[in-house]
Amino acid sequence: MGIAEEMGSKQRAISVSQFFEKNRHLLGYDNKAKAMLIIVKEAVDNGLDACEEARILPEIFVGIKQLEEEKFEIKIRDNGPGVVKEQIPKIFGRLLYGSKFHRLRQTRGQQGLGISCAVLYSQLTTGSPTTIVSSTGDGKTHKYQIRIDVAKNKPMIVETNVEDSEERWHGTEVTFTSEANYRENKQSVLGYLKQTAISNPYADIVFESPNGRVEFKRGLYRLPPEPKEIMPHIEGVELGVLMRMLGETKARTVQTFFTTEFSRLGKRSANDILLKAGITKQVDGRPIPDVRLRPSRVTDEQARDIIHAVKHVKLIRPPTDCLSPLGMNLINSGLMKELNPEFVASVTRPTAVYRGWPFQIEVGLAFGGSLQAFNLLRFANRVPLLYQGGVCAITKAVAETDWRRYSIEVNRGSIEEPLVIFAHMASVWVPFTSESKEAIANYDVIIKEIKLALQECARKLSVWLSGKRKRAMLSKKKSIFELYAGETAHALSTMTEYPKEEIKQKMLQIINEKWEELNGGETIEEVEGEDQDSGEGSGESDSEEGEPEYSSAG
Ligand SMILES: Nc1ncnc2c1ncn2[C@@H]1O[C@H](COP(=O)(O)OP(=O)(O)OP(=O)(O)O)[C@@H](O)[C@H]1O
Ligand SMILES: [Mg+2]
Repeated sequence: MGIAEEMGSKQRAISVSQFFEKNRHLLGYDNKAKAMLIIVKEAVDNGLDACEEARILPEIFVGIKQLEEEKFEIKIRDNGPGVVKEQIPKIFGRLLYGSKFHRLRQTRGQQGLGISCAVLYSQLTTGSPTTIVSSTGDGKTHKYQIRIDVAKNKPMIVETNVEDSEERWHGTEVTFTSEANYRENKQSVLGYLKQTAISNPYADIVFESPNGRVEFKRGLYRLPPEPKEIMPHIEGVELGVLMRMLGETKARTVQTFFTTEFSRLGKRSANDILLKAGITKQVDGRPIPDVRLRPSRVTDEQARDIIHAVKHVKLIRPPTDCLSPLGMNLINSGLMKELNPEFVASVTRPTAVYRGWPFQIEVGLAFGGSLQAFNLLRFANRVPLLYQGGVCAITKAVAETDWRRYSIEVNRGSIEEPLVIFAHMASVWVPFTSESKEAIANYDVIIKEIKLALQECARKLSVWLSGKRKRAMLSKKKSIFELYAGETAHALSTMTEYPKEEIKQKMLQIINEKWEELNGGETIEEVEGEDQDSGEGSGESDSEEGEPEYSSAG
């Protein structure tokens, strides 16, 4: 047998489960403490997504029990709409299966990998199946024990039963038995839940940890507006995708293909694209767009011309109601509730676009009070990002901001203030750097938007800080004057024979009058040398009506 034949006999398809079984680090499972965090995070993110889609105020329970030295039972329960019986095995027992990948909608999950990979990791490390209990509120509760057939990437049902439930409970409870480690630090389950409570202040979260019970009570009783699902915007569609869409579409003509499969693309723009791409026919010796051409008849060459033409046609931007940013009220109340600072300020930027996908950046700053040191909190679609900070667009934008301009002390590149920066990217598709969804890719337009939001917020902080520092300096001076008032009064009294106490009172009165005079009125100053907003939006921040620009808790 020749070498090619020998190689040929070994070549075969690889199932996606086998791939991730070998490459679990791509999903973040590279150590036992992190594995614990990821399992909890995948289930909690799913619970919050499901609750929001069903417009239910989320109640999340997380329970962790140590079984052996490095073996834990990890339980996560939500009060969401539940999972229909037929879907339970596929969702939990099959990789790349889900409801979010094909939709352009702002959700925490997007890949269809998260929860089944947690099942796979548990199975890999302890050999145990995962238990799922779910009810849609119809009085029946379904219980499944599931394993993944790795070679086939298919679920194996170990056990299943159904029970009548008296109260109409709805929701999902998943119990993993997995190898893991329990830690309590910023990058742990506790740190993740605390940050989740900040970015989801309308959720009630209960955590039964090996060290005791922690509750994160909701501070708001209203869900943020529901984000709408959108079609892709043609501006960001790549050639291969366009060719696939042309092959799959049910539209009979290329004009309807454009107007029905893309976001905000009307007949006039569709015709402009066709004309510029040279997809025309001659009428009275003049070229007019060939609107009736069948999509399947569009050649590869013509598809290339369409992509090129799109760049030269004026198009309407994607809609903004597909995004549900937290808004200044939610950010401020989340930061106040969990961090207890002296000052908070926040900014929500207008919608911008990368690769045709809309996104929105929000930034919040918390300063002083209970805060001790600097901390950067990164979020994508309300999910805290705890690892891979070094490669994240948010970290880059923070590092590229000149903080000294805003009276923030920086030493060798590190901010040295009791300051917490909260930065959130909301998008219909977050460009993560890997399947583990830990860092946002460095698109220029995203970094620019984050920087503009940071600057806008830092300006508010700087005004407050300069007022605070000025007051502190004056107060120090005042107490020195007060200290010397007694001695000066004594000297003056000896020289003038005026009663000492009267002179002292007069001096204190003058000091107080001057003090009040100096403490009045502050103005917001422009900071020179900032990046200018030449971006997509109006440049105005999308503040909710009637909302204060910033609030100080001092
Ligand atoms: N607790 C839940 N309640 C209701 N539906 C759920 C729940 N958990 C998962 N699902 C459904 O199962 C699907 C698969 O979940 P999974 O976490 O694997 O992927 P995803 O959330 O779509 O994306 P990602 O891999 O980015 O997390 C989801 O898309 C959702 O439709
Ligand atoms: Mg998920």
